[in-house]
Amino acid sequence: MATARIPLVAGNWKMNTTIPEGVALAQAITAVPRPDGVEVALLPPFVHLWTVAEVVAGTGIALGAQDCFWEDRGAFTGEISPLMLAGWCDLVLVGHSERRAMGETDEQVARKLRAGLAAGLRVIVAVGETLAERRAERALDVVRRQLSAAVAGLDGGALARVAVAYEPVWAIGTGVTATPDDAQTMCGAIRTEVGALVSADAAAGLQVLYGGSVTAENAGALLAGGDVDGGLIGGASLQAAAFGAIIAAAAQVRPASTTHPS
Ligand code: PGA
Repeated sequence: MATARIPLVAGNWKMNTTIPEGVALAQAITAVPRPDGVEVALLPPFVHLWTVAEVVAGTGIALGAQDCFWEDRGAFTGEISPLMLAGWCDLVLVGHSERRAMGETDEQVARKLRAGLAAGLRVIVAVGETLAERRAERALDVVRRQLSAAVAGLDGGALARVAVAYEPVWAIGTGVTATPDDAQTMCGAIRTEVGALVSADAAAGLQVLYGGSVTAENAGALLAGGDVDGGLIGGASLQAAAFGAIIAAAAQVRPASTTHPS
């Protein structure tokens, strides 16, 4: 069996842009060429979602939130429920290392992932090791632990709405990237692990993204690995031209007709 995996290029704006700046950025991104065979998603801050939804309506660009809470409603001041996003947002990111660094646990990430899926959203779950963990040669163990907490117990149908983003913490916003080989090796290991945790078929269709200092210049190399199905882009997603170049690079390394043996 061969499985075609469509690459996804998702722009994580993090805590950047005022409302007018966000509208202008989204408008500029709708104007960049989007080749067939690449999914594009924007993940602006919560307060932008409605206005950006209006800008991207009808363009095929997907819209996502950067986080959500695990309960559907209740006395949780400041939190955003997946039900509030469902029906008009396409996806939600959970487990970003910047949230894990503020104390979010594997268990909380797993609850968020399940809540997002239950609300009908697609979920990108971010995993990745710190520099100390990599130096101690524990990168794979850490990623496996995070993955196991997040996806163990899901069935193949649920996993079809999950993407995993491998984001080595030391590469995020630092200008230092994993080597293309390291990115491919870890993305391949993630696929293998998900195969063991869920099923080989589900793993074969899983989108595995690389994230961490992806730029217009390095995207072609970083996204070229056979197990790397696009990228989660922070800083470079704040400039339409750079983001567009990354989308173009993703399309070039994974032409629309390519299939991958499972
Ligand atoms: P960066 O961020 O591209 O600015 O390194 C990536 C991310 O944190 O998703």
